[in-house]
Amino acid sequence: MARQATTTRQITILGIETSCDETAAAVVTRLADGRGTIRSNIVRSQIEEHAAFGGVVPELAARAHVEHLDGIILRALAESGLNWSGIDAIAATAGPGLIGGVLVGLTTAKAVAAALGKPLLAVNHLEGHALTARLTDGVAFPYLMLLVSGGHSQFVLVRGVGDYQRWGTTIDDALGEAFDKVAKLLGLANPGGPQVERLARSGDSKRFAFPRPLLREARLDFSFSGLKTAVRLAAEAIAPLTEREVADICASFQAAVAEVVAVRSASALQRFKADLPGVSPVLVVAGGVAANRTIGAALLEVAKTANAQLIVPPPALCTDNGAMIAWAGAERFALGAVDSLSFAARPRWPLDLADMRIADHGP
Ligand code: KG4
Ligand code: ZN
Repeated sequence: MARQATTTRQITILGIETSCDETAAAVVTRLADGRGTIRSNIVRSQIEEHAAFGGVVPELAARAHVEHLDGIILRALAESGLNWSGIDAIAATAGPGLIGGVLVGLTTAKAVAAALGKPLLAVNHLEGHALTARLTDGVAFPYLMLLVSGGHSQFVLVRGVGDYQRWGTTIDDALGEAFDKVAKLLGLANPGGPQVERLARSGDSKRFAFPRPLLREARLDFSFSGLKTAVRLAAEAIAPLTEREVADICASFQAAVAEVVAVRSASALQRFKADLPGVSPVLVVAGGVAANRTIGAALLEVAKTANAQLIVPPPALCTDNGAMIAWAGAERFALGAVDSLSFAARPRWPLDLADMRIADHGP
């Protein structure tokens, strides 16, 4: 069950996110009644640094974080209208993610925390995604989260802060990764998700009958690598591709993944109702792929049929940002959690192991 907050005072957190290719910082306040408000949220995307390489290059990402993070933090503070004395604690992504980038953000957070004598909160990046809907929509626990990003595709039962149960995950590629790989093999720019969605609008989604991986199985896992291979083979068979054919492939691929996500989400909601009788089902979608309108429309249908509420935070808060890390830090801090300055960055860190690390009390 969800733990009760131990503080009734207002708390303001600086949040830092550097686990992939966004250098981000934000200032978020958690009000005494538990609602959140974003005072500033600065995101610098590294898309241009990585454009020539067709994907994120970890070493370049870490260097760009080093170069820009201090300035981004100062901008976030300036735009918040506060000075350092108005910040109660510093939160940073401590994993999972590209370790070079995570180290830049976490080490900077430790330095700021030490210099100001303020507490540090080492946040699991996935926990940031998981709790965003409480910042944007004040959603109550428990709820079901579908996280679909460039690195993750999973269903998680969010029972409380630090209390997560993973119900299914991808056994190969993440959904955003599948979008990016399909885009790459069609010669589209990275990140591919938005490009595929744009071109799919003018394409014929029935032109190619791509496979719907694991669709008939009862499990809540995903698999996208076979679908990606089917797309590659179809593209190679008719190469060189006309613009029309590229659009048709994008539309057919997007239709396949939307159907898989919809069918899986319907099963996950069924499990939610069976496991948590009497609780109104809520499905929260998080991660960059949540910005996809075809997938969103399919999920809306699923939610309607299941009599569930669907919550999709605004795109800027679905993709990586500092506000989600500040908010997760605020939720943890309100429960009495703080972390040691010796907390080590974690390249892998499953969400169900995002333990509370409560400083002075239990549940
Ligand atoms: O959450 P996010 O910003 O970063 C990670 O933590 O991975 O997600 C980025 C992913 C990329 O793979 C990108 O192609 C995908 O989200 N994405 C989309 C769309 N917008 C972003 N995929 C499909 N349709 C979109 N509109
Ligand atoms: Zn993310």
